[in-house]
Formats: sequence, structure tokens, C-alpha cells
Amino acid sequence: MTDRYILAIESSCDETSVAIVKNDKELLTNIIASQVESHKRFGGVVPEVASRHHVEVITTCIADALSEAGLVASDLTAVAVTEGPGLVGALLVGMAAAKAFAWAHGLPLIPVNHMAGHLMAAKEQSDLTYPLMALLVSGGHTELVYVPEAGDYRIIGETRDDAVGEAYDKVGRVMGLTYPAGREIDQLAHQGQDTYNLPRAMIKEDHLDFSFSGLKSAFINLHHNAQQKGEDLVLTDLCASFQAAVLDVLMAKTKKALVQYPVKQLVVAGGVAANQGLRERLAVDITEVEVIVPPLRLCGDNAGMIAFAAVVEYEKGNLADLSLNAKPSLVFKGIED
Ligand code: KG4
Ligand code: ZN
Repeated sequence: MTDRYILAIESSCDETSVAIVKNDKELLTNIIASQVESHKRFGGVVPEVASRHHVEVITTCIADALSEAGLVASDLTAVAVTEGPGLVGALLVGMAAAKAFAWAHGLPLIPVNHMAGHLMAAKEQSDLTYPLMALLVSGGHTELVYVPEAGDYRIIGETRDDAVGEAYDKVGRVMGLTYPAGREIDQLAHQGQDTYNLPRAMIKEDHLDFSFSGLKSAFINLHHNAQQKGEDLVLTDLCASFQAAVLDVLMAKTKKALVQYPVKQLVVAGGVAANQGLRERLAVDITEVEVIVPPLRLCGDNAGMIAFAAVVEYEKGNLADLSLNAKPSLVFKGIED
């Protein structure tokens, strides 16, 4: 059998990334150009700035990936690209680059769902056995996904308002931390205690949905009230209290999902899967199934994960023609669809 090389492009948010996977899961390169420094001063990603940065670096990233892998375009089997969800202007840059590259070199085009990418990053850590369950936690998403077979992703629970990463970043801003705040809150949380009694929304309810806007508001109110009264809050305890509230809910809902949908493996992925507190809780709380968390370098946005998800789509024959367009609100199917 000849070797198969898929080049993947990811540009849904503030990382421009190009990866090449050889055969099933050998990542030859995973170039990631992060723009985070440009967005920090705004406290979040500015879509127009993101698009402009993607345009500036995308062709260099493709060239660098090929050279790092020691390949030329004619060695490639296919080109994969994140079609959504994400920022439309950011997605369009990767989409245009992928289509142009595919057309110029006569290569098939593979559309990939960004969240499928986050999930499939777990493949680097361990072989996946279906059916499996995934808890996907990122800056834009918080969802429980049942995967009956490779490439078939079914939402069984999701946030009704804010995503976990978004909540981290918002409370981080209130505490004066730098964007994105998840990592720093995690570190501070490890030095503090859960003393502020923040709400655990919907934790007792049987459904598998989440809500984090109440927690965010409770946190902001606590902070503002203390400021008005001139009281000091303990930063480490604030972080520990916020993180404990988040993790209690994530664990409770995941455990409920595992009862409702028996599986052998739980994948936990997305930017927030880098959280050490979450990893510690998983090790203690989830004993019923094997837990697979991607390595840290594949938790944040990167094209390596898109390449892994693309392998599945390619094998299923899910290819696109040049009419493919970015889909900023792309979602997985529901369980009944
Ligand atoms: O998956 P990702 O890189 O981008 C999206 O697709 O959204 O996730 C970014 C999010 C940010 O909100 C960031 O604060 C959060 O992941 N994050 C963390 C940690 N590292 C990154 N949240 C909690 N703990 C961390 N260690
Ligand atoms: Zn992401």
C-alpha cells in the first residue's frame, strides 16, 4: 500500500495552523501561528484582526509544513480544511487557501468540523473504540457528544448559554487577568480553597445540558459587591471556588451521560481540556470508563487534530467540491436526527 498524506488547514479562530498526517495518525508536522499577542490588549479575539493575520501567514504556514515534512505538493493525497464552526472571516481564509491549493494540485478536498477535530486529537493518546463518549470544552463550545461509530457525532447535551472557556475568560477579565485566562485561573486555583460558595447550575437535573452564565453573574456580583464595600477578596480562593463550581458540574453531567449511554471510553478535549484541575478530577471521579485526554500541545486549536478527523472523513468518502463554503454555525446532529 502506498503511503497516504493529508494536509490539513485550520483557521477558525486566532490560530493559523497547517499539519500533515501520514496514513492513520503519524503527524509529520503541525505548524501553529498564534495571534494571541495581537488580541490580548482587546481582552478577546477581534474577528477582523484575526482574518487579516490569517491572510498574512497562511501561505507561509503551508510552505513550512511541506518543508518540515520533507514533502512536495505532488506527494499529497488530499487537502482537509475546517469548514466550521468559527469566525466566518477567519474560516474563509483557510477555506480559500485549501480550495486554491486543492484545485492547483488536483487534490480532493475534505471538509472537517472543528469540534470533530478537537475530539479526534485524542487519537494521538490512545486508539479509539466505538461507541465512545466525548466531553468537548473550548472557548466557544461545551458539549457532550455520543459517537456510535467513527465520524458520527451526536450531541446529547450542551451549554444553554456560555461555553466553559468563555466563562473562564470573562471571570478572568473581572479579576484583571490577561486573556485567555483559563490557564492562569487553573494555576491560581491550585493555591486556593473553594470558600466562596458559587452556584452549580442544573447539577441535579436529569438532562445533560449545562449553563454557566449564572455562575459567571454570581462571580461578577461577588466581585462588584466586595469592591463597593471596600472588602478584599482572596484571588486564589476566588479562582479555586470558580474552578470547583465548573468542575463539579462537568463531572456530574458527564457521569450522568455515561449512565445513559454506556461506552468504554470517554474523550475529554478542547482548549479547556488543558486544565490540570479537570485532569485531576477526571482521574478521581471517572472510574467507570477509560478516560482519554489529548496531549497538551493538541488541546488548543491546531491543524493536527483537523488532520486526524479528516482521515475518518476521507475513509468514509466524505469529500467536497470547490463550491464548499465556510459554515460559521456548523453543529453536530442531535441523537434523534
Ligand atoms: O479550543 P480552544 O483553543 O479554542 C476554541 O475553539 O474555542 O479553546 C480556548 C479556550 C479559552 O477560553 C481558554 O481560556 C481555555 O480554552 N483554556 C483553559 C485552559 N487553557 C486554555 N481553560 C481552563 N484551563 C486551562 N488550563
Ligand atoms: Zn477550538
